[in-house]
Amino acid sequence: MTLGITLDSLSLGYARGPVLREVDLTVRPGEVLVIVGASGSGKSTLLRALAGLLTPHGGRVLAGGEEVTGTSRERAMVFQDDGLLPWRTVRRNVELPLRIRGLPRGERRTVAQEWLARVGLEGHEDRLPRELSGGMRQRVQLARALAGAPRAVLMDEPFGALDAQTRAGMQALLLDVLRDTRATIVFVTHDVDEALLLADRVVVLGSGGVRTTIEVPGPRDPAADRAELREKILKEL
Ligand SMILES: Nc1ncnc2c1ncn2[C@@H]1O[C@H](COP(=O)(O)OP(=O)(O)OP(=O)(O)O)[C@@H](O)[C@H]1O
Ligand SMILES: [Mg+2]
Repeated sequence: MTLGITLDSLSLGYARGPVLREVDLTVRPGEVLVIVGASGSGKSTLLRALAGLLTPHGGRVLAGGEEVTGTSRERAMVFQDDGLLPWRTVRRNVELPLRIRGLPRGERRTVAQEWLARVGLEGHEDRLPRELSGGMRQRVQLARALAGAPRAVLMDEPFGALDAQTRAGMQALLLDVLRDTRATIVFVTHDVDEALLLADRVVVLGSGGVRTTIEVPGPRDPAADRAELREKILKEL
C-alpha cells in the first residue's frame, strides 16, 4: 500500500516572498527520495507542502493522484524541531495516530509499546517530552510516525540530533521498516553519506528549485563505494 506523490509546477513561499518556483518532481510509490540542499534552500518548506501544512502559491501536490489540500494520516510527518504534544506522555504521543485510526485501547497500547521498544525507548513511556533529550524526542516522533502505518512518511532531518551510534541504529531500523512496509519516504538531511545510504534518488535543492536529481543504484550497503556520487552531490550543494 504505497503512495506516489507528484509535485506539479509547485511554487511555495511565505508572505515575505517565494522560496521554490515551479518545481516538477515525482516520488515513485515505495521510493526513498532524499532531499539535500543548503540551509534556507526550502527543504522544510517543501516537506510542509507535501504534508498538507502549507498551501502552495502555485501548482499542486498530488498524493495517489488526488490533490493534497490538508494533512492526512496516510502521510505522516517527522518534524525537524519538535512535533510532540508537550502535555502528553511518550506513550500517549505514540498512541495518537492509533487513536485516530480507531484502534481499541488495549491494541493501541501494544502497538505503541512495540514501536517504543524498536526505537530503544522502553522504560521511558511515562515521561513527558520535556523530560527527554533532543535525540530521544526525535525517536519518539519516529515511533509515532511509523506506528500509524502511513503510506508515506515525510522526515525532516529526523536523525540530526542523534549521536553517531544511535544514528546508525535508526538508519538500520528505517531500512528494516522499509522492507516490511514498502512505505514511500521523503527524507531531508544535510548529511550526504546518510543521503547515499538511504536514497533511491537524491534531489539537490538550490536557487529556488531542483538543482539536480541523482539516482543511487542499489543495493543499500553501508560499505558501498559512493565516492563518485558523493562528489557529484557536494559539487551542487
Ligand atoms: N514560517 C515561515 N515564515 C516565513 N518564512 C519562512 C518560514 N519558514 C521558513 N521561511 C523561509 O523560507 C526559506 C526556506 O526555509 P526552510 O526552513 O524551508 O529551509 P531549509 O532548507 O529547511 O533550511 P534548514 O537546512 O536550515 O532546515 C528561508 O528563507 C526561511 O527564512
Ligand atoms: Mg529545514
